[in-house]
Amino acid sequence: MKKRNTSIFRCASCGHEESKWLGRCPECGEWNTLTESTVQVPAGTRRGGVPQSVPLSAVDPQEGTRILSGIGELDRVLGGGIMKRSAILVGGEPGIGKSTLLLQAAATADTKGRILYVSGEESAGQVRMRADRIGVTGDRIEICCTGRLPDINTVIEAIKPVIMVIDSVQTLHSDEVGLVPGTVNQMKFCSWELISWAKEHDAALFLVAHITKEGVIAGPKTLEHMVDTVLYFEQNDADSRFLRAAKNRFGSVDEIGIFTMGEKGLSTVEDPSLLFLVSREGELPPGVATAAVLEGTRPLLVEIQALTVPAKGSMSRVFSDKIDQARVSRIAATLEKHLGIRFSDQDLYINVAGGIRIREVGVELAVAAALYSARTGIPVPARTAITGELSLAGEVRSVRRLAGRIKTAKGIGFETFLGPIPDSGENAEFMSATDLRQAVKLLFS
Ligand code: TYD
Ligand code: MG
Repeated sequence: MKKRNTSIFRCASCGHEESKWLGRCPECGEWNTLTESTVQVPAGTRRGGVPQSVPLSAVDPQEGTRILSGIGELDRVLGGGIMKRSAILVGGEPGIGKSTLLLQAAATADTKGRILYVSGEESAGQVRMRADRIGVTGDRIEICCTGRLPDINTVIEAIKPVIMVIDSVQTLHSDEVGLVPGTVNQMKFCSWELISWAKEHDAALFLVAHITKEGVIAGPKTLEHMVDTVLYFEQNDADSRFLRAAKNRFGSVDEIGIFTMGEKGLSTVEDPSLLFLVSREGELPPGVATAAVLEGTRPLLVEIQALTVPAKGSMSRVFSDKIDQARVSRIAATLEKHLGIRFSDQDLYINVAGGIRIREVGVELAVAAALYSARTGIPVPARTAITGELSLAGEVRSVRRLAGRIKTAKGIGFETFLGPIPDSGENAEFMSATDLRQAVKLLFS
């Protein structure tokens, strides 16, 4: 950290320090005992309780550098490692693997500093058992089992950790805020104290928060604005778990980390391009299309499944929890308007294989193809990957990283690719469409 020289005036009699020379020491009352000396203080710190600013150019850019966690997927979601002086909230349902993830990260983090794991939920023995199970040695991890803030404060002052994990914020309490642990006020007060400590001591803080199935996150939600980064750990099918950033001051919120939980803890899925496909021989069933989408910066091939059945009520409904319902309705309306296929008397069901949620616009043309195929009974040709955004006017709009999507699709055996017109038209097997009508013609005739 950058240091600057500054003068202080220390009392020779009692040691009291002042920022200005005074004739009489305000502490012990002695006269003419203050003498000037020069000390180094970190840039931007307070002196004598007087808030000070520093020139931006004098701030050390190394302040708040990153520590690699040793878990590639976690580092990527964080924006390239754990930022020092940052607070990271890790939310998720009980049993999803938050404790496991952070214990693994604690064991592999690339730092020589101390790592403190505060568990208010489990005993030291239980944490040790988990560490043994996932095969990490706890040599550099200090464990402390309490949720009492004064106790935690004593421990952190003593060991000055570089990384701290608080598992979980729901167990934090301090007598200063009342006697009942688990209230929102307790959680906010204690978290704030710990966040401040981390920021002042160049440490990184992970705050684990449980979130119930119904998504009731009233408690942890109030912490979101206090922290720098909010990660949510989600589980969408039997063994894939997704780590997403909902907020990130130091990186993008597009990246997603994919893990599987095994017998020995979490493992990362570095090449997820096959994870969301269903292996099929021969022709595809109607209603199925493969989308080449981006998750953050990574292209991903996902199978989109559509089903249309005559509406049960007088209104047509959309059932789609992995792709936004409003988006599905809009795509169906665009198909109806530009190709004259009726969807407004149908109930529409959309699913994504592997249970991943897709937000990227590049999925739209594939959703249109799946819906068209479901409604007409004509299958999408096998081994065809589709990408493109759809406008209300029925145009196929360009997408980011088109070349990367094509490359990934080719790499895992897709032979045909349908998408918007590329900027540099060099691809032979590539079919490009400017509008929906043309896209449907290319696919289905
Ligand atoms: P845990 O990290 O305790 O979840 P959280 O802290 O989010 O509540 O993970 C608990 C689940 O993971 C539990 O059901 C057991 C399972 N698990 C494994 O399958 N393999 C393992 O190696 C470990 C450590 C846990
Ligand atoms: Mg836990």
